Amino acid sequence: SSAAPQPSVAREPIIIAHRGASGHAPEHTLASYRLAGRMHADYIEVDVRMTKDGKLIAMHDTTLARTTNAETVYPHRSPWHVGDFSLAELKRLDAGSWFSKRFAGEPIPTLEEIIHTLEAERIDAPLYIELKQPGIEKAVVQLLQKHHDLQRGRIIFQSFHPESLQALRPLTPRGIPLIQLIGERETARISPDELLERVAVYADGIGLPLSLASKEWVNAAHSRGLIVHVYTVNAPHDLARLCAMGVDGIFTDYPDRPARIAACR
Ligand code: G3P
Ligand code: CA
Repeated sequence: SSAAPQPSVAREPIIIAHRGASGHAPEHTLASYRLAGRMHADYIEVDVRMTKDGKLIAMHDTTLARTTNAETVYPHRSPWHVGDFSLAELKRLDAGSWFSKRFAGEPIPTLEEIIHTLEAERIDAPLYIELKQPGIEKAVVQLLQKHHDLQRGRIIFQSFHPESLQALRPLTPRGIPLIQLIGERETARISPDELLERVAVYADGIGLPLSLASKEWVNAAHSRGLIVHVYTVNAPHDLARLCAMGVDGIFTDYPDRPARIAACR
C-alpha cells in the first residue's frame, strides 16, 4: 500500500547571532559571543580577517576606525587597514568603548581565542564563519582542524566571494554548508535564476539581504536544493514574515530565544 502524503511541516528558521549578540554588546568581542551563547543562538556568526603577521581575527570592517580606538592609539597609521597591523599591535586596542563604557577594554579576539573560550565556558553554539577576504581559506580550515571543529553541525562557512567558497569546497568535508552571500545590488547585473544556477554548482545555500527576501527567491533557491539564510533581521514583524516564507535561517543582532518563538508560531 502506498503511504499517504504527509503534510509539510514548516520548520522554525535557525537563529544566527550576527557578529555575536551585537545588539546588546560590542560586535565581534568575546562579550558579544558569550551573550549569544547564553541566549541559546543556534549559531554564532564570526567575520574573519587576517592580520599583517598572518593571524586570524574577528573583525567586520576593512579598517579599525569604527569599532576600536585605533585612531587615538595609532594616530599616524591612517586609514587603519586591519591587514597593516600585527596581532600584538591590535591587542593594544579597545574594541568595546565605542559601544558602551560598560565594555571598555574588550580586546579584538583571535579566531583561536573564540574557539578556546566557547569550549572552556561550555558554550555549545557552533560557528558560522564569514571569510571577509579571499586567500585565508587554508589558514581557517587548518585552525578548525586543529580544534576538531571541521565537522558537520559544528561549522557553516559563508562568503561574498565565490572564489573563497570554491577554494573551500575541496578542503571541506561534505555536510559542512557553504553559503554564498548575495549583495543588495547583485541582481542588477544578473537575474536571480542565472545567479542561483551558478551558485548551485559550488555552494549549499545563499545568504540573502532582507531587502531581497521573497517567497519567489525562497522557492527558486529551494527548487535547486539551496538553503536560504536572510540577513539582518531585527524586527519581530520581519521575522514572522520570513517564517511564513519558509526561510531556513536568519541573522539577527538580537538572538533572544523568546522573541524568536513568539514570532514564528
Ligand atoms: O553574513 C551575513 C551578513 O553578516 C553579511 O553582511 O556586512 O554584516 O557581514 P555583513
Ligand atoms: Ca557577516
